[in-house]
Amino acid sequence: MKNIDSITHVSGTSVYLDDVPVINGTLYGAAFGSPCAHGVISELILDDALQLPEVVRIFTAADIPGHNEIGGIIKDEPLLADTHVHFCGMPIAFVVARSREAARAAVKKIRVKITSLPVITDPREAQAKGELIVPPRTFRLGNTDSAWEQCAYVITGNADINGQEHLYIETQGAYAIPQENNSLRIYSSTQGPTAVQRAVSGIIGQPMHRFEVIVTRLGGGFGGKEDQANTWAALCALAAWRLNKPVKYALHRMEDMAMTGKRHPYAADFKIGLDKDLKILAYEASFFQNAGASADLSPAVLARTLFHCTNSYYIPHVTATGWSCRTNLPPNTAFRGFGGPQGMFVIEAAIAKAAHVLQVDAALIQRRNLIRSGQPFPYGQIAESEAPLCWEKLEERFDITEQQRKVKQFNENNSLFKKGIALMPVCFGISFTNTLMNNARSLVHVYSDGSVGISTGAVEMGQGVNTKILQVAAQVFSIPADKVRLHHTSTNTIANTSPSAASATADLNGKATLIACTAIVERLKQLAAVTFAVTPADITLVNGHVLVNGLPSAWDWYQLVTTAFAKRICLSEHGHYATPQIHYDAVNEKGHPFAYHVYGTAMLEATVDCIRGTYTIDAVKVVHDFGNSMNTDIDRGQIEGGIVQGIGWMTMEEVLYDRDGKLRSNALSTYKVPDIYAAPATIAIEALQTDRDNLAVFRSKAVGEPPLMYGIGAWFALQNAVRAFHPNADIPFVTPMTPEKVLMALYSTTNPETNHPHAETVSHLGIDQ
Ligand code: MTE
Ligand code: HPA
Ligand code: MOS
Repeated sequence: MKNIDSITHVSGTSVYLDDVPVINGTLYGAAFGSPCAHGVISELILDDALQLPEVVRIFTAADIPGHNEIGGIIKDEPLLADTHVHFCGMPIAFVVARSREAARAAVKKIRVKITSLPVITDPREAQAKGELIVPPRTFRLGNTDSAWEQCAYVITGNADINGQEHLYIETQGAYAIPQENNSLRIYSSTQGPTAVQRAVSGIIGQPMHRFEVIVTRLGGGFGGKEDQANTWAALCALAAWRLNKPVKYALHRMEDMAMTGKRHPYAADFKIGLDKDLKILAYEASFFQNAGASADLSPAVLARTLFHCTNSYYIPHVTATGWSCRTNLPPNTAFRGFGGPQGMFVIEAAIAKAAHVLQVDAALIQRRNLIRSGQPFPYGQIAESEAPLCWEKLEERFDITEQQRKVKQFNENNSLFKKGIALMPVCFGISFTNTLMNNARSLVHVYSDGSVGISTGAVEMGQGVNTKILQVAAQVFSIPADKVRLHHTSTNTIANTSPSAASATADLNGKATLIACTAIVERLKQLAAVTFAVTPADITLVNGHVLVNGLPSAWDWYQLVTTAFAKRICLSEHGHYATPQIHYDAVNEKGHPFAYHVYGTAMLEATVDCIRGTYTIDAVKVVHDFGNSMNTDIDRGQIEGGIVQGIGWMTMEEVLYDRDGKLRSNALSTYKVPDIYAAPATIAIEALQTDRDNLAVFRSKAVGEPPLMYGIGAWFALQNAVRAFHPNADIPFVTPMTPEKVLMALYSTTNPETNHPHAETVSHLGIDQ
């Protein structure tokens, strides 16, 4: 089935926040952000701005009737800076004017005097100074301390992983419209309507029921609107509440880039130990997360780094510690993979380094250590693993050995261009790691003409969740898809929702829809059973017809529904789903946090121009574990998009703050994202179709985030291409691998710190390659 949004998308009629018709008298907001990353405000000078004819009012922290606080996990984030500023771009004032242009012009006329304080941008420095968001967390399996002596090889190293700008095509924004009796309707470009409702309620100091939050759809969120849509909605709501006028603010791209947090940069140390057969026996890692100035979602993101620190591998002895470090950057936040990708990069770096030291192919180590069913992850959950199967199928379908041979041959015959190849297995847990968030509701109405309307807490952001939910209803009712419609997301219809995130939206909201539709079908079958003098089990609904014991009856769907309506049978249902089986003990760091895992393996090929340092990522070939996909077009779209976004993160997207905490890569002229030319010419996706029972909706496994991590292989493919030119090149584990870094590596002198080619040790290994 086609994505139900495809026609309106290509015809330009899909409604995003900025397409919501504007009411007469609407005012426009713009935020004034701190010009300085850390300091004490001594004076805020608004006079010049207030003098502009179209300016209506400028709001500051003093105007907030409720609590000046929007922190979700930890109450450490004011909406508007009061006495202190903690990052460049931190909102200090909110201008409201009669036009968008006037609001922005006024922002430029605001002056602020700030006594500056020392600025920290580096997470290791923050950690050393005790600037932590939360106490550190450690995941343990076995005992690394005693394991090292059993290892034939122990290799240490470190990595520096950069962040990533979300660059959703639709920037952040909100539109708050006063309603009667002291209430507001707020349109928001958010993944979390309830989070917005809660934040607004706190800022205004009024109960949640006064605020309806509506989401039509997003032009992308990628995690950036899980928590960080709250700010703009709360500012608009504050102004709308105080002025009793509609107030709208859709951010300019440069405002969005400067004021919002990104994927977390991490620094990390690792130590990996292997036995003579290349089995990884022990792994230690310390993660220094650059959280930014306040918690936002950082503790949860850090947890997922630890959950995924061993990626698809079984390692019997693991100690992994994560530090969430407070710096003077905008609070970093959720981004596709939610900390998992950073954890995975570090284990892949450790394996790559071990492979280089031992002069073996990294794929050999990867393959030998893939987790098998029955083996535990460091957090105690027992794997139901598809990892070996994905790898085998990749070998079978895309012939890894032959590809490696071709690359070798190419490299022998070319001196100025070199190719590299890398394998990238992925294992990603599906569920919010915070167990209580794994629930959802769906409100299903069968209207008296037989058409169906559905509301859920899901937010459509391009990932196709509405199409999947529609498919669920059409299948359970056994009616054509065009009889079903998805209504927009609103906190008035569906309450207390978790954000659309964690790749779990279709599972959670799809299952709630399944429950609601099934309940309605049960009532309808009851009615048909009485009418046809059989039991409900004898009734089936097939393609719009009512069958009795498998044979056509006089009734179709329409007659069934109209009769039920005439007999005053309820044609609506509110379904509630909470993921069963999951639990987690955060004290012992053990449990069963994920409904299931998604597996896959990718092979990536890159070509480096050894004169220029430029490169192409030529091909990505994947075997991906779909379970039993309910919409292969949408799922393939998610995989292609995720791969390109992952490659962008690893290769060309360079978030750059200067030492004063000012964002230098603050526009698309200085922040390079993959376009169609940077995308691999080949993305081949082979489905691993499995029948194993799982908790996914119709066994169709979640697909939103996992494919991003295939992109990590691009970094290692480039590393291998550079090594083909300069075998002992100095290639620190620093991301992204920009052409500049490639060029430096190609002509680097060997660094004993990053290179230990112990060729003589290798000859004693007897490793079969
Ligand atoms: N795909 C599109 N087109 N746009 C998005 O914003 N967000 C990603 C992923 N795919 C995103 C996307 C992220 S971060 C997540 S968590 C999932 O979609 C959320 O949707 P799902 O739970 O329905 O997979
Ligand atoms: N994933 C994504 N978003 C989240 C999570 C998670 O595990 N927990 C809280 N928000
Ligand atoms: Mo996705 S990072 O869980 O919104």
